[in-house]
Amino acid sequence: MTQDEMKKAAAIKALDYVEKGSIVGVGTGSTVNHFIDALATMKHDIEGAVSSSEASTEKLEAYGIEVFDLNSVDKLSVYVDGADEINAQNHMIKGGGAALTREKIVAAVADSFVCIADETKVVDVLGQFPLPVEVIPMARSYVARELVKLGGDPVYREGVITDNGNVILDVHNMQITDPVAMETRINAIVGVVTNGLFAQRGANVLVLGTPQGSKVVG
Ligand code: 5RP
Repeated sequence: MTQDEMKKAAAIKALDYVEKGSIVGVGTGSTVNHFIDALATMKHDIEGAVSSSEASTEKLEAYGIEVFDLNSVDKLSVYVDGADEINAQNHMIKGGGAALTREKIVAAVADSFVCIADETKVVDVLGQFPLPVEVIPMARSYVARELVKLGGDPVYREGVITDNGNVILDVHNMQITDPVAMETRINAIVGVVTNGLFAQRGANVLVLGTPQGSKVVG
């Protein structure tokens, strides 16, 4: 199986977690794009979706799935999204697609976070994938200096503006042994909107795509 086929296997399996008649929280990325394709096959069984990005919204609407404003929804039973890295505690690095802030907001509302990923995303220690940090544009240099003090090597993601009008710093060379503490420390830097550590609210379920097909972990 290719990596993309493993992503697709995990995405299809995630339909098992979608409750009939519910509004589904939908993440962003290539694995989620497979999930949206799968969700479209049962679009008459759900009320609609809440989306974490303009890109996912566009794809959902193209299938005729209604996308609700999160402010008009008081309950989401499930949020389905991918990850750039995930460890054994289901802590994740996310934000490779620059959608981390909206992803974190929608995930916070959901009762359950179902992470869909191919098996290459599983790591012992988070940080090999550069940690995305969404930053208010005028704070970019200040935040970068503060991230250096934390031991990281921030790189400005040139040419990328988030759906919220901000910029991304990708922090290289971090060995994140305490993701919960690091998530808090980075979020405390003035000018940071949010960072791509999803540790305080990790995944409840990991659906992995493997060469043998999908596998549910935890
Ligand atoms: C987007 C994300 C994605 O979930 C993450 O980058 C994984 O992407 P893909 O499914 O394309 O491998 O956090 O901001």
